[in-house]
Amino acid sequence: MARAVKVVIQHAETARLLGVGFVPLRAGAVGKRDESPVSTPVVTVSSARSATECAGRTRDRAEAQRRLDELRERYEREAPHSRFVTDHTNIVFGEGDPCARLMFIGEAPGAEEDRTGRPFVGKAGQLLDKMIAAMKLRREDVYICNVLKTRPPGNATPTVEEARICAPYLFEQIDIVDPGVIVTLGLPASRLILDREDTMGNMRGRWHEFVRLGKQAIPVMPTYHPAFLLRSYTEENRKKVWSDLQMVVQRLGSAAGAGPTTGHQRPSG
Ligand code: URA
Repeated sequence: MARAVKVVIQHAETARLLGVGFVPLRAGAVGKRDESPVSTPVVTVSSARSATECAGRTRDRAEAQRRLDELRERYEREAPHSRFVTDHTNIVFGEGDPCARLMFIGEAPGAEEDRTGRPFVGKAGQLLDKMIAAMKLRREDVYICNVLKTRPPGNATPTVEEARICAPYLFEQIDIVDPGVIVTLGLPASRLILDREDTMGNMRGRWHEFVRLGKQAIPVMPTYHPAFLLRSYTEENRKKVWSDLQMVVQRLGSAAGAGPTTGHQRPSG
């Protein structure tokens, strides 16, 4: 099939999945921050990799999972959430490919997440699933977690102090998964990861970095939280989110095309 036809079909499919009437072929058409011309790559980008491809260096998926399990046990033992009020039944630690190239970070579990112990399984989660599918990825290929691992009372937005208390566990989670790209969903995750007090409008739509001491920075794309999108389901907001995700797909695609040794890497050890 001719490339142009494939691109048009993929855009139509994406528009259908996101419920968007119109998906710009070039993200530059959406806002002035999206300066690079972006068209959806025809390649299917899978973030699932074999053990030898994990983050561009030899890593063992089972070993990464073991470290995540250990971290979870430590979180449960230390129970940082006991320092603030929660309304939780289950700890929602995170799930997905322990070596995922793409990591989504939300804010905190809601009622459905609290009930099941799994992140993003309620209404916002269903929209996140559509976003992931629109990116031609499978949920099990990415890693999904939250700033807080327990449900705040009345679905309250995490406070800066609560986020600060739980941050070390999230940062360690990031270190273990070592994704090539992080997508922060909404304000609490974006502010925590970028260490920046700013609005979503100012942060989204362009690349930032999660800077780590002695390790390579990880590219971060902040975008609107799916729950916000559900509340403000305007075509303009949906286009903005899709534009942000397109930039992520393109980045993952070019890293995949460049091969595991030239994609995002951290110095080993
Ligand atoms: N909202 C979040 O931020 N995280 C979830 O897991 C569910 C809803």
